[in-house]
Amino acid sequence: MSSRAGPAIGGRMRGGGGRHLSGPHPEDDMEGLSAPEARRLRELLPFARPYRWHILGALFLTILVAATGLSTPALAQIAIDNGITVGNERVLFLSVIAFVVIGLLGWAIGYGQNYLSSWIGERMLLDLRVALFRHFMHLDLGYHERVPTGRSVSRLTSDIEALNDLVTDGFTSVIVNGLTFIGVVCILFAYNWQLALLSFAVFPFLITGTAVFRVLSSRAYRRTRETVAEVLSVLQENLAGVRVVQGFGRQEPAREAFRRANADYREANMRTIRLSAFYFPGIELLSGIGLAIILWFGANQVLSGQIQIGVMVAFIGYLASFFDPIQQLSQLYDDFQSAMAALEKIQSVFATLPKLHDADDAITLPPLSGAIVLDHVTFGYRPGTAVIHDISLTINAGETVALVGATGAGKSTLAKLIARFYDPQDGLISIDGHDVRHVTLDSLRAQLGIVPQEGHLFAGTLRDNLTFGRPDARDADIVNALSAIGAREVLDTLPNGLDSEINERGGGLSAGQRQLMAFARALIANPRLLILDEATSSVDIQSERHIEHAMDILLHGRTSILIAHRLSTIKNADRIVVLDHGRIVEQGSHDQLIGLQGRYAQLYDDWERATATDVADPV
Ligand SMILES: Nc1ncnc2c1ncn2[C@@H]1O[C@H](COP(=O)(O)OP(=O)(O)O)[C@@H](O)[C@H]1O
Ligand SMILES: [Mg+2]
Repeated sequence: MSSRAGPAIGGRMRGGGGRHLSGPHPEDDMEGLSAPEARRLRELLPFARPYRWHILGALFLTILVAATGLSTPALAQIAIDNGITVGNERVLFLSVIAFVVIGLLGWAIGYGQNYLSSWIGERMLLDLRVALFRHFMHLDLGYHERVPTGRSVSRLTSDIEALNDLVTDGFTSVIVNGLTFIGVVCILFAYNWQLALLSFAVFPFLITGTAVFRVLSSRAYRRTRETVAEVLSVLQENLAGVRVVQGFGRQEPAREAFRRANADYREANMRTIRLSAFYFPGIELLSGIGLAIILWFGANQVLSGQIQIGVMVAFIGYLASFFDPIQQLSQLYDDFQSAMAALEKIQSVFATLPKLHDADDAITLPPLSGAIVLDHVTFGYRPGTAVIHDISLTINAGETVALVGATGAGKSTLAKLIARFYDPQDGLISIDGHDVRHVTLDSLRAQLGIVPQEGHLFAGTLRDNLTFGRPDARDADIVNALSAIGAREVLDTLPNGLDSEINERGGGLSAGQRQLMAFARALIANPRLLILDEATSSVDIQSERHIEHAMDILLHGRTSILIAHRLSTIKNADRIVVLDHGRIVEQGSHDQLIGLQGRYAQLYDDWERATATDVADPV
């Protein structure tokens, strides 16, 4: 049995993850490549181009590998017929030498070929992975809010991995096996066509069996990929939500769901194993029958002097390398199917273009004073369902504007529009008189600081995280910023101060501390325009009082948009804008709005009552 034979479960596991999304069932067209497959492979060409000379070299070595494989039975024939049978020691000796030389050559060439083709494959995959990552980083926020992170991750991991088998040794294997097969057929016919025809008698059975096996096994493998994706997703969900699982004592149901997903996966694997256990020994059987035929008829021909004994030995040798390529190519077809499915998914990511990109005539935004104008802005995440309705708002340079309103009123959305994470369907947004669609995104974002609701921390040191927006900030600046927001003591709670390693879940920092860190990050970046989206919602009331003072420092001298969870933080804003269902319903200073006795007064009332009865932080 060949090394590739049998179900490579480990390999499949890597290939799994992400559902099989390929449209037309590939087994319907067995002959060659379908048009979309050919197109998909063509789209890989740019990744192969930098390595074209390496590829040519690998191709050359691959042909040599096939040639050395084919030469040994012929050499045995010469040794037997021209050496042993006629008693010519010289020929025998030379044949033995040739055997050793070819063996050594085969080893050296095999090494070079293996190394080179894997090297090319790994390079191409690296390039592809980096290009894909880069593309993800440039895709608009809308894409990332729509597509689950897990799915994007599996594009970069399991899908790329599924291509691995194909690009590292798949293509060379096709060439070696194809050449070997054709070579064997030609050589056998050249030796003796009657015997060749006889030994091919098992061929129809071989082809039929292989075709049936391939259809069944490619179905079975698809099932394993689907079930392993399910296993991974149950695992991922429960690990990510382990706090909730434990908090509600749901470990048992989680375990049961995981057990069920694993049972399905095991069942799917067992099916591929049963199929392989039937097929591969079946091939051995056919190969045995072929051998028996050769022995019987070949021996008769030898005895009647029609062929020499060496020819028969060569036949037996070649017959072994006649069955192998068929098995291997059949196995490879499955790899090819998974690779094509993965490639399709990867290419669909590349085909998704960022909705937001710099206009051809986009200019670099000059240093801002920070006057923002929204002019009849209408926006919805989906066409036909607007969440911002015809909003017009002018924010003066240096002004602090607070957005308030119920959950879902559209506050965050408005902030995202100003930061140009989305473009409005209608209306215009301009900063210092520049339409935001006609300035480069980089120059806009460089002058903009955003502290989102979930201040994300990256794996790395605390320093790296705090200087995210200004990598050249000095430690003194960092400590100053932390002191300004009253978070200086966070440094003391961490083992290595600024050098402490933290991770995306905060690693040792509380939710409130994480938010404070996001806050400090914005302060250090020192942007012209600042957007705080419920930046203090996880901070306790006491700390928040502390922050109020820091906020004054932070907001001073820049245009700020403040979305606050607690109304206490926004009382001091220059202007308060009340949103309701995507519309501005009131605006003015705190006192004016209280005097109005409208929506704001009502929100403020609710808030005061809540904080009076519930001193503890509600979050
Ligand atoms: N990424 C999104 N895709 C689709 N709808 C969204 C998305 N984000 C917010 N929404 C919807 O837009 C409306 C306004 O949401 P948002 O601006 O987050 O409100 P707020 O910040 O005031 O709580 C809500 O109805 C919400 O369901
Ligand atoms: Mg919000």
